Amino acid sequence: MEQQKRYGHFDDAHREYVITDPKTPWPWINYLGNEDFFSLISNTAGGYSFYKDAKFRRITRYRYNNVPMDNGGRYFYIKEGDTAWSPGWKPCKTPLDFYECRHGMGYTRITGRKNQVEASVLFFVPLKTWAEVQKLTLTNQSQEVKTLKLFSFEEWCLWNAATDMENFQRNFSTGEVEIEGSTIYHKTEYRERRNHYAFYHVNTEIQGFDTDRESFVGLYNEFSNPDAVVEGLPRNSHAHGWSPIASHYIEVTLQTGESRDFVFLLGYVENEQDKKFSAPKVINKEKAHALIARFDTTDKVDKAFAELNAYWDALLNIYKVKTGNPKLDRMVNIWNQYQCMVTFNFSRSASFFESGIGRGMGFRDSNQDLVGFVHQIPSRARQRIIDIASTQFPDGGCYHQYQPLTKRGNNDIGGGFNDDPCWLIFGTVAYIKETGDFTILDEMVPFDNQPGSEVTLFEHLKVSLDHVINNLGPHLLPLIGRADWNDCLNLNCFSWDPNESFQTTENVSEGTKAESLMIAGLFVVTGKEYVALCNKIGKHEEGQRMQRAVDAMIEAVKKHGWDGEWYLRAYDFYGRKIGSNECEEGKIFIESQGWCTMAEIGADEGMVAKSLDSCKKYLECEHGMVLNNPAFTKYIYEYGEISSYPEGYKENAGIFCHNNPWVIIGECMAGRGNDAWSHYAKILPSYVEEKYQTLHKVEPYVNCQMVAGKDAFRPGEGKNSWLTGTAAWMWYTVSEFILGIKPDYDGIRIDPCLPETAGDYTVSRKFRDAEYDITIRPNGSQKGVKQIVLDGSPVEGDVIPYAAGKHTVEVTM
Ligand code: GLC
Ligand code: GLC
Repeated sequence: MEQQKRYGHFDDAHREYVITDPKTPWPWINYLGNEDFFSLISNTAGGYSFYKDAKFRRITRYRYNNVPMDNGGRYFYIKEGDTAWSPGWKPCKTPLDFYECRHGMGYTRITGRKNQVEASVLFFVPLKTWAEVQKLTLTNQSQEVKTLKLFSFEEWCLWNAATDMENFQRNFSTGEVEIEGSTIYHKTEYRERRNHYAFYHVNTEIQGFDTDRESFVGLYNEFSNPDAVVEGLPRNSHAHGWSPIASHYIEVTLQTGESRDFVFLLGYVENEQDKKFSAPKVINKEKAHALIARFDTTDKVDKAFAELNAYWDALLNIYKVKTGNPKLDRMVNIWNQYQCMVTFNFSRSASFFESGIGRGMGFRDSNQDLVGFVHQIPSRARQRIIDIASTQFPDGGCYHQYQPLTKRGNNDIGGGFNDDPCWLIFGTVAYIKETGDFTILDEMVPFDNQPGSEVTLFEHLKVSLDHVINNLGPHLLPLIGRADWNDCLNLNCFSWDPNESFQTTENVSEGTKAESLMIAGLFVVTGKEYVALCNKIGKHEEGQRMQRAVDAMIEAVKKHGWDGEWYLRAYDFYGRKIGSNECEEGKIFIESQGWCTMAEIGADEGMVAKSLDSCKKYLECEHGMVLNNPAFTKYIYEYGEISSYPEGYKENAGIFCHNNPWVIIGECMAGRGNDAWSHYAKILPSYVEEKYQTLHKVEPYVNCQMVAGKDAFRPGEGKNSWLTGTAAWMWYTVSEFILGIKPDYDGIRIDPCLPETAGDYTVSRKFRDAEYDITIRPNGSQKGVKQIVLDGSPVEGDVIPYAAGKHTVEVTM
């Protein structure tokens, strides 16, 4: 094994990842905030903040793909004599005597030391608060008195992150600020239609400030050495247009051993229309003052921080495993669950790869995300299901994405992704199984947010599956539309125009024959769930109707979807096979193997086992399973974006981590625990962390969307970290299929699938009003529960019936 440089390590006791070298192979970020106010923060304090929507309410400015990378953030400059430095190394980049960044659950602590002065900054967004707290602690560790000059720095975004980057003829004239004591207010466009402003405050008297970027930085300077810092002199500038910023200037004297806290607060306020101003042109600061008062002392901040930690204690107490393998336990107990919260909050909107302006919440993405999150805060998952279903059309089709602020379907992208509707069943069923709350099915939910169009959520589920049934192709397999889960398999696009989007260009859908085996498998899996749900709520006829459709689909797959050694992927517009041994390239694809094995289509005929073997033979490599094999080496007009990527990247034979768990679940259902585990460990961040920090590049504590595949120039290189369906799927896979704790309507089903080397383990699981302490003894078996003993008495079958209270469960395999 190649020994690679390490940039950090896990600290499980504190639930932190500790970065010890600021020059990570790529910025390693964290997310602050849980509900409305959010921040992205890198290990050098780069990043930005926004309220609810990273496009429409961007509070601070960030320039993607900048030179150098990750320039811009919440910055502190500490000046002693001629030396200026920053606790996070950047932006000054003055070499530090000590540097450490600890990314934790909803907070980041960055500590730097220079010439025996230590600066430690704790960044977090308190619960239910529209603000980011930055608690800076300065400590004089030397034997002499230290006289320091401290500058803070934030750059305002002019709210709409898209126009902020393009409409300069306007932007350079609109900027407005107000300064009051130690608070700098950003009020651009407040005079007209906006009813919100932001502020940056510090809880001490300041000796100066700046609000105009060019005055502070200098037109020909950079964040690393702003004029004001170089000269040690603030300009007290008042921005009118151009680029408003907020910078405090504070003179600090520290005695030997003395330590001092400064609480900086970046806040956001909304006012009612008739309460916008307190005097002509003067913004109403009442709410800002109240917010400031909540965090004006170290004690108050520490209390809010303790509340945040308690919040995460409670969340992470819901599912806890003890296997004795720290690499597994830390992912299950900490990081995988944490990433699930983040993907639930952000879908695919804002990361260091998603600019916050491109995509909002995805219909399919958000349904999958909530499966990883529903056990944490079911009430939020419930609301999300209603929001998502409200963007559906009466025929079951739906908008592919919606904006989080408006909750309205996004017209730019529209609909026509024919897998989308099925995911609503996937998400809703997970919610009901977790909570036992069937009332969600009776909620009245509109179509396309049109008042008056409301039907029950159950009706939405029905039209979802009907959308598949009503859109079958010549082989009675589902028509693919613009694409299925694979956004880049665009079989009706036919584009030679580089200015067209592969996703929205649909040149030839009339008369299309393009069909998807991925949707076929997805339909069978979600159709079976729907049938079980119907039976559960007494809708037996509807259940039978759907069962017939599921059976027909299974037949269609066996007849037209099997290639001999694996499932086909699709039929193209002309009815030709995709993902077949007959094809020159792209002979086998992962998605249909995953979904058709999860659906157990043709299990009795040996199809499932053969398909899983083929995944091992053709798709697996050192870093996981690639999406397709062989990779496409040229653009195929009839296939679309998939063949636009160079070999080994993204949807063209990259390891698209999101779909590896599908095959792993297929393995688990087939009882092949050794294979399931070996696939799982290959993409489990803690295993990758140990081996490949430099090669992998992106954050080692979370999954990324894509790792370069075996055909790539540099296999093993990761990209697109954080916001990926991988988080929810890894969680679903390990919690329910490997460790085998599955919420069900009437209780918890116990059905682990483990490598034969697995030892005894325990899971403590809070479930509705019950708490189960479950001990599982695999005895070298990969699958199959022999006996379950609940509170001392044996249980029939593999479901522990739900009953409130504390229970002990002993499982023998
Ligand atoms: C991205 C998209 C997701 C899609 C996948 C495969 O992760 O967010 O919706 O299914 O790519 O194309
Ligand atoms: C591109 C990406 C794909 C993503 C899609 C949707 O096609 O490659 O991963 O899902 O865009 O925006």
